[in-house]
Amino acid sequence: MKLLVTGGAGYVGSVCAARLVESGHEVVVLDDLSTGHADAVPDGVRLIAENIDDVIGSVLAEGFDGVLHFAAKSLVGESQQDPAKYWQGNVVTSLRLLDAMREHGTPRLVFSSTAATYGEPDQVPIVETAPTRPTNTYGATKLAIDHAITGYATSHGLAAVSLRYFNVAGAYGRFGERHATETHLIPIVLQVASGKREKVAIYGDDYPTEDGTGVRDYIHVVDLADAHLKALAHATGGEHRIYNLGIGVGFSVRQVIDACREVTGHPIPAEVSPRRSGDPAVLVASAERARTELGWKAERVDLTGIVRDAWEFTQARSRQEV
Ligand code: UFG
Repeated sequence: MKLLVTGGAGYVGSVCAARLVESGHEVVVLDDLSTGHADAVPDGVRLIAENIDDVIGSVLAEGFDGVLHFAAKSLVGESQQDPAKYWQGNVVTSLRLLDAMREHGTPRLVFSSTAATYGEPDQVPIVETAPTRPTNTYGATKLAIDHAITGYATSHGLAAVSLRYFNVAGAYGRFGERHATETHLIPIVLQVASGKREKVAIYGDDYPTEDGTGVRDYIHVVDLADAHLKALAHATGGEHRIYNLGIGVGFSVRQVIDACREVTGHPIPAEVSPRRSGDPAVLVASAERARTELGWKAERVDLTGIVRDAWEFTQARSRQEV
């Protein structure tokens, strides 16, 4: 297929673009490089370094079999401070994309949704039919886009799949996580191991979990990317399907730090700090629907293995920066 990957210079987008190319698809990346990196675009892939809002019509006029829409603002804290940036950058831009797809007859869409659409869950593991009550603007904008996509699927025949990511981690060779503003646990802990940070703050140890720290479902970015390939193959005209992507098992902040200590051999000083506002105690996916309907299952479920891949990426980046 000829596929447009928006946000293909970012973390998840670049890994997906690489896997799509390896599977024989023709890929074009559209990324304004506001948070992505031109050198993260896989070799041989054309990069259009423009805003979606400015060029999406002329790009899709070329004719594409589908769009994988990763481009988004994705910092929960920032979304609370500057909601307009998120409603504009996520919702308005995605509506432009949907309209352009309709106008140019682009048949398929795979959208990066998030566990943040559910908010604080009543029950874990979280199933796709759970109530959606986002607790931050980031989650609210992703949920709004999911609703819009449903409308375009039922009314205009779009074949659409939304993938609700839990905690994406790990790396794929030279493709990995390198955010200017880093908020995610594993890269922060690895920054301590590589001497870029003194210690890691544990945001709360009084949660109702086994060791008192927050529990999350960490999914390897390669497994996540492979789910996109399956989603693309299963997308059906007139339907909008939604799948949670996680491994179905949670690890606590302390377990993650221990895995990082084991992998890096670094003591990684950690200090308990107050809770981060809006953080639920436990977020674990039910991966059942993705398994039965897409035939997808996470293969890289060992936390140490996930951390090892992220660590190799971190070390390779540090060598390049020296
Ligand atoms: N944490 C710390 N210290 C840190 C950073 C994080 O203790 O320095 C803890 C958090 O409190 C949480 C866990 O580590 O318990 C994971 O935090 P992340 O920031 O790595 O990820 P989140 O679970 O907060 O966020 C993820 C996605 C978001 C998405 C959200 C859904 O990264 O994009 O899940 O709720 F919105």
